[in-house]
Amino acid sequence: MMSQTDLIHPGERWRDTDGQPIQAHGGGIIEADNAWYWFGEDKSAPTILNERGTAKVPFQGIACYRSTDLITWQRISTALSPVPDDPDHPLHTNKVVERPKVLFDPHEQRYVMWCKMGGPNYEYMHLGVATSKTIAGPYQFIEAKAPNDNRAGDFALLRDRDGTAYIIHPTDKFKVMIVAELDETATRLTGNLHRCLEGDGGYHGHEAPTLFDYQNRWYMLTSRVSGWKPNPCRACVADQLAGPWTVLGELCDIDQTETTFDSQPACIWPYDPARGRFIYIGDRWNTADLGDSRYIWLPIVWKDDIPHVRWLDAWHPEDDAAWVV
Ligand code: GAL
Repeated sequence: MMSQTDLIHPGERWRDTDGQPIQAHGGGIIEADNAWYWFGEDKSAPTILNERGTAKVPFQGIACYRSTDLITWQRISTALSPVPDDPDHPLHTNKVVERPKVLFDPHEQRYVMWCKMGGPNYEYMHLGVATSKTIAGPYQFIEAKAPNDNRAGDFALLRDRDGTAYIIHPTDKFKVMIVAELDETATRLTGNLHRCLEGDGGYHGHEAPTLFDYQNRWYMLTSRVSGWKPNPCRACVADQLAGPWTVLGELCDIDQTETTFDSQPACIWPYDPARGRFIYIGDRWNTADLGDSRYIWLPIVWKDDIPHVRWLDAWHPEDDAAWVV
């Protein structure tokens, strides 16, 4: 019998092993050394308004948490730290640095972290990259720029089945999704890219791409573009990353909340991919206090071969019943 503390409680305050609220917003997870590592935005400082009136927390760093059960998390580091004494640096505290994603580079035997670099007011829409020999960092910043000269924003970082790393990000006012190839060190763009979902039925734009690979098909969930406000996320499917992508629809809400249970996708964790068990990981943004934004971890369930996010008040990934509609 699992106790309440062994369960995931979507939307409730989630504390680390020191009793502090977990600061891993817009996060990404990777597995290494028989443990899981959760990287995310540390938004523990007070929320302020930027010059455009958008809520922001000056960059506090990218936090790294470690767990061996996906429920109990220990903060082990600030993996990427702010640069406080150079206001022009992309990591200065006046900037917005979001949505960190990490992967391992076997070529250089090091970890590579990519982040969305918004500048002080989200005017840059760059992506930044940093590396570390150890998973927890400190990560050494390399550079931030517009990938392939495209405005970026939210992005996904992954490896295709052949091991090639890609960044997936929206551009052209969020109307196109770019699948951009990275080199063998995963720190540089090769310039090879695919423009996906172009002319997508006049779609109002998409961001927060999160992808997973199931039965030789890639699935992509995206949010619409409404800043911190939640909206219905949409599912697309393709046989290969380059597409063509087929829109499955805005159907991630079995219960029709039309807000993806008041959340926006951050990443998807392949918990038991052979059995189609993927965990949706989203953020329920709280613009009054961004550091108190809650995590929405929910099972992705399948109905007619289409992925849906299913609400549960409390659940455990080992509980088979969680995965059945
Ligand atoms: C969202 C984005 C978030 C954050 C927010 C700021 O569209 O997904 O990561 O940048 O805008 O308004």
